[in-house]
Amino acid sequence: MERLNLGILISGRGSNMQALIGAIRAGQIAANLNIVISNKADAAGLAFAAAAGIPTQVISHRDYPDRAGFDRALDGALRAADVNFVCLAGFMRLLTEDFIEGWHNRMINIHPSLLPAFPGLDTHKRALAAGVRFAGCTVHFVRFETDTGPIIAQAAVPVLANDTEEALAARVLAAEHRLYPLALRLVAEGRVRIEGERALVDGRPAPATAVLNPAD
Ligand code: GRF
Repeated sequence: MERLNLGILISGRGSNMQALIGAIRAGQIAANLNIVISNKADAAGLAFAAAAGIPTQVISHRDYPDRAGFDRALDGALRAADVNFVCLAGFMRLLTEDFIEGWHNRMINIHPSLLPAFPGLDTHKRALAAGVRFAGCTVHFVRFETDTGPIIAQAAVPVLANDTEEALAARVLAAEHRLYPLALRLVAEGRVRIEGERALVDGRPAPATAVLNPAD
């Protein structure tokens, strides 16, 4: 694939975005940071991106009568910024099928669970309620159904006895910050191919990282 011209979409804190920016600036990922777009003007990640010298834009979903209109504006802004690859990083809007099709195999997302388990919101709460022993995170290409699509990489972390939602979220987030740059690097290096609806890395099933045993 050609050199990545990235558009990063955020809605809030933007710590995954920061991890991507850090890896790119450290020379670990060959990519241009074309634009960071937030649907929320007060997203903390926007200030970080601006301070890092990356063009930023706010496109508020509240300014559009429907999802289709918002998504068209988003699409237009990405294309105007010459973006050829989109990273969702805590972007909290559901996207329309048209938008997603327009970025087919050119848009990835990070989700804080071992997909296909626990898609959607309240991931950690549901993982704790289900009593799973491992949690984790997944970077995947984006398809229409929420949190589905070919998996590029996953990281697992243990669920500990007496874990709280906050403690588990923090443990998973630390793994996210390692996994997202790794997955984007694989894409940037042209090592990811989609066959059927599976992502292959160097022709093999996607890698798993940081599989740990529960400490208790
Ligand atoms: C992360 O846990 C991400 O996996 C999920 O939303 C959270 C965003 O955090 N999609 P941040 O904005 O990247 O700090």
